[in-house]
Parts: sequence; C-alpha cells; structure tokens
Amino acid sequence: MSNQRQPIGVIGTGYVGLVTAAGFAEIGSEVWCVDIDAEKIAQLQRGEVPIYEPGLEQLLERNKERLHFSTELSGALEHARLLFVAVGTPPTHSGDADLSAVNAVVDAMPGSDRHALVMKSTVPCGTGATIQRVFGERGKGRMAYVSCPEFLKEGSAVKDFLNPDRVVVGDNGDWAGDAVVELYAPLDAPLVRTDVASAEMIKLAANAFLATKISFINEIANVCEETGADVIEVARGVGLDDRIGPKFLQAGIGYGGSCFTKDVSALKLLAANSGYHFQLLNAVTEVNELQKRRVVSKLQRHVGTLAGKRVGLLGLAFKPETDDMRGASSLVLAARLLAEGALVSAYDPIAEDEARKLMPELAYCASALDAVRGSDAVVLVTEWSELLRLDWSEVAEAMSGGLVIDGRNALDPETVRSAGLSYEGIGRR
Ligand SMILES: NC(=O)c1ccc[n+]([C@@H]2O[C@H](COP(=O)([O-])OP(=O)(O)OC[C@H]3O[C@@H](n4cnc5c(N)ncnc54)[C@H](O)[C@@H]3O)[C@@H](O)[C@H]2O)c1
Repeated sequence: MSNQRQPIGVIGTGYVGLVTAAGFAEIGSEVWCVDIDAEKIAQLQRGEVPIYEPGLEQLLERNKERLHFSTELSGALEHARLLFVAVGTPPTHSGDADLSAVNAVVDAMPGSDRHALVMKSTVPCGTGATIQRVFGERGKGRMAYVSCPEFLKEGSAVKDFLNPDRVVVGDNGDWAGDAVVELYAPLDAPLVRTDVASAEMIKLAANAFLATKISFINEIANVCEETGADVIEVARGVGLDDRIGPKFLQAGIGYGGSCFTKDVSALKLLAANSGYHFQLLNAVTEVNELQKRRVVSKLQRHVGTLAGKRVGLLGLAFKPETDDMRGASSLVLAARLLAEGALVSAYDPIAEDEARKLMPELAYCASALDAVRGSDAVVLVTEWSELLRLDWSEVAEAMSGGLVIDGRNALDPETVRSAGLSYEGIGRR
C-alpha cells in the first residue's frame, strides 16, 4: 500500500479507537494515538495490546512503525489534520449519553482551520451541531467537523473495519468531509455521504433496530415455549423472507455489550427530550431485561429452589471472541442466581479477568469441566466455539445433576440428551 496517505490522529484507544488506528495504519496512514489512560498508553508503547480482539495484535505489530502512542495531544495536532474521536459515551444515571469525555476533547481543541474533529464515538443526534456552536462561541469556528459513526462489532472488529458494510460521512460539504471520504476510499465500501445530524441518527437507528430484532425474536421464542413451536424453525422460515433476512433472529438470553443497551436508551431519551415518546424502545428494553431473568425461572422449574444448588456458568463475556464484560447478560444472571442462594461457578476462555472485577463473588474455574463439576445445572451463557465442542459425556460425568440450559440455542439438543442430560434451550421444543 502507498505510504503517501494522510496522517491522522485518533483520540481514545479503546475497542473502536485502537482498531481504527491499526486499520488506517494498515492502509497506509501514519497514526497518532492519544489516550488519557497513561497505563494503557505505556502498554501500547511496549507493544502490548490492552484488549482481546482477534487479529488486532498482528495488525498493530505489522504496522508498528506507523503507529505512535501518547497521552499528549500535541503530536496528533502537529502531524495530522483529521482527529478521530473514539472516547467512551457511557450512559449517565438518567440514561442519556454521558458526553463528558467528548466535551473534554472539544475543550482541548485549538481554534485552527487546519484541523477537523471526526466523531467516531456514538453521540446523540444534535451533538455535532452543539459542538460546532461551541467552537463558534469560543472563537474556534474555523475548526471543521465530521460525523463518521462506527459500525464495527467486537469479536470481528478488524475484519469489520477493513470490510465495512458501509461508510457513513456526515459533514458540511467542506475539505474535511472530502478528506474522510478519501481516507476510506481504499476500503471500497458503499458510501453514505450526508449531513451531520443524519449521520448521527443513522448510528442510533441502526443499533436500535438490531436490538428490536433481537427482542422481537426473543418474544417469539417465549410464545413458542407456550405453544409448542420451535423458534429455530420459526426463525429459519421467517428469515428466508428477504425483506426480513436471517441475521439477528437468534433467540437467547438477551443482548448485552456496551452499545445496544446504552444506544437504545440514548435514542429513547433523545426522543423524549425532544418531546416524542418512543414507545417501541421501552418494550425492546423491557423484553431484554426480562429475558436475562427467565433463565432463573427455567432453572427453578427443573431443580426447585436454588438455595444451596450449584450452577455452572459456561461463558461470561457479552459475546464470543471478546473480553468485554460491559452489559453482559451473565452479570444479571449471576446476580439473580446469587440472590436466590445458588453457588455459582464460572468459566470463560478470555473474559475471566474482566469478570472478576465485576463479579468477585463467583468461583472462577480454569476449565469448563471444572466449572460444571458437582453442579446441579449448567447454563451456556456465551457461545464460545470451545464450549460448543465440549464432550457432553464428560460433562454429564462431572455434574451431580443433569440439567443443561442452552442460553444461546447454540448446542445440538440430541448430542446433549444422548449424554444422558436434560436439555432446555430458549423457545425450542
Ligand atoms: N465497542 C464497540 O463495539 C463500539 C462499536 C461502535 C461504536 N462504539 C462507540 O465508540 C465509542 C468508544 O467505544 P469503545 O468501546 O471503544 O470505548 P472504550 O471505553 O473501550 O474506549 C474509550 C477510550 O477513550 C479514552 N478516553 C476517555 N476520555 C479521553 C480523553 N479525554 N482523551 C483521550 N482519551 C480518552 C479511555 O481511556 C478509553 O481508552 C463509544 O461512543 C461507543 O458507543 C463502540
């Protein structure tokens, strides 16, 4: 690849920032990364990768000459015109997006006509307009602004960055929008070039729609349980309609992660703050919360009271191939089990360290078999491929009871049953 491409700055080196930095370095840019977390920057300078993301370590290693890490903005400001912002926007207590990290970046910007702020962080629609107004009020109105929301998925983030479904660029038709479009050109992705507000809304609407699809199929699964239908069959038949499509029709114990929950809430409150009641999203959220808890009643139905019962959790991360525990369904499930007096042991191939910080009271095990040993029931929480390949006869031998709840509908019921265990999925016959 050409090394003549424009240098960029990336502010915030978390899941999105680090993948964005490594991805743009891969296609030829010099990248100046900035984070306020001095420990994270020290790790990155030593060549250590602070997060688990398949392919990221190799990408960073291959492009290390082009990647610079610092806690100071000055290097990025000196070398790059486009400053990508990828800081966190977690929910506040009210459920609105917390823009304090974004605002700290805005405060640190110079009044320069050389630079543009390129917003990758997911922000409420209207944030770009506010930031541009603030720049104007502070005499920094020459600073350009672009909304460039990110759609990568943890677990396949590198692949998603390099092969995006689409690139969305929301701008004011100036040099900065053109420069972002040019930067993405080698990826040859469909481009949606639009205004800033629409770009911001595309991101929120996409996540809200995906969450809606999951809650919808989960409700169908719950009705299947009452009526004798099998949600896997139903989803297959429904998903072949090309107006609907098969993706995100996997019933389970609810969505987790850092994005869906907070972005659905942010969109709902954005609407409410503008005087509109986004009723549908209330249901999406409520269904998801209840779905995480339904496993507890399934367990109780089979084994009676959970007080003193041993339950083994297989997988803890919010989805496979990530160490991210933010919003993981396992957090709610484990808390509910402990509240019922169950003894909970757990195994996750990658996310154990993160999980320990959030759930120190669980008994962590070095293998799946250790986690199920002596248990009355086992719940598959995260469908790591390692867990899908378990030898269920060995599991049956290690358990003291015989119940397997497949929280992701990812196991073959017959394989589990032929090991002498009882199988129950979500919405399966
Ligand atoms: N994680 C995802 O899958 C995903 C996907 C698409 C969009 N997003 C959005 O991207 C944004 C970032 O998400 P993430 O998961 O990468 O978050 P993250 O928490 O992993 O990373 C954020 C990083 O920003 C740093 N930071 C905070 N304040 C800073 C400041 N003032 N200056 C420099 N660095 C600062 C933090 O130290 C941290 O390293 C969020 O708005 C999120 O909604 C995330």
